[in-house]
Amino acid sequence: MEPISQGPVLSDGLFQQITDFLFQETGITINQNKKYLVEYRLQKYVGPGKEFSSFNELFKALKEDRGGALKTLLINSLTTNYTFFFREPVHFRFLAYYLKTYGKTQNYIRLWSAGCSSGEEAYSMAITCVEQGFTSQTRDIRILASDISQKVLRVAESGVYHYSAIRGELDDAYLRRYFSFNPRVKDFTIKEPVKSLVTFRTLNLMEPFPFTKQFDVIFLRNVLIYFNTSEKEQILAKIWDVLKTPGYLILGLSESLVGVKHPFTTLSNSIYRKDGR
Ligand SMILES: C[S@@+](CC[C@H](N)C(=O)[O-])C[C@H]1O[C@@H](n2cnc3c(N)ncnc32)[C@H](O)[C@@H]1O
Repeated sequence: MEPISQGPVLSDGLFQQITDFLFQETGITINQNKKYLVEYRLQKYVGPGKEFSSFNELFKALKEDRGGALKTLLINSLTTNYTFFFREPVHFRFLAYYLKTYGKTQNYIRLWSAGCSSGEEAYSMAITCVEQGFTSQTRDIRILASDISQKVLRVAESGVYHYSAIRGELDDAYLRRYFSFNPRVKDFTIKEPVKSLVTFRTLNLMEPFPFTKQFDVIFLRNVLIYFNTSEKEQILAKIWDVLKTPGYLILGLSESLVGVKHPFTTLSNSIYRKDGR
């Protein structure tokens, strides 16, 4: 929960202009009921003694921002990156099942954590693979992890998590097996063979995907919430194109594709399969 803001006020009109700009640039939709959040997060840069004296000035600079640094800052500030290790465990059980059954017969295995935030989801997928005996040494297996926010990707790539942030998320056995602990700073660092299974890259889901890879399973969890129906449909169509047949798409447990047109076979409220068309 973010505190009630006390700094400069963001007018409804400017909120609309900023969110329209964000939408045009990234496809991310921010509804009016999130205005307090935008105001609160941008107040870090707006006000007396700060980079911009007013929200108007910030918006003007944003439109003139040729290098894209301010746009990146806006994206980093306004995306919600909440995540944790083994969030919604049923999906990792599904991945383990996939590897045990279909995985054994695949020449290569490609998994994708799309909207990976700070990496916990991708490393949980990697730990699941290693637990099933799938490592870079034993198989042609790789995990792509992508996000639009470079800020979270820096954390993800480092693979370093403070104990207070991951306490309670992982079994002690996993912590001992897959992390090294630095008692001086109380950090856990992800180690081999988990780390090298994952490759991180910046990727905006609203842009054309820069690959035609055939993925076995794609985790797209708690990301579609950012998009309106038509964008959801565009993203799902692109996801379809880069999945194997059969291939699996996994959404967050609280998401739903009701009212969204898509070509997948629905296996449960969050697991979808690409069958031949
Ligand atoms: C709530 S987190 C979900 C993290 C993880 N998938 C999970 O379920 O725990 C949503 C992530 O989607 C990313 N995101 C939002 N819009 C995006 C876009 N257009 N392209 C790629 N990633 C995006 C955000 O930066 C954020 O890290």
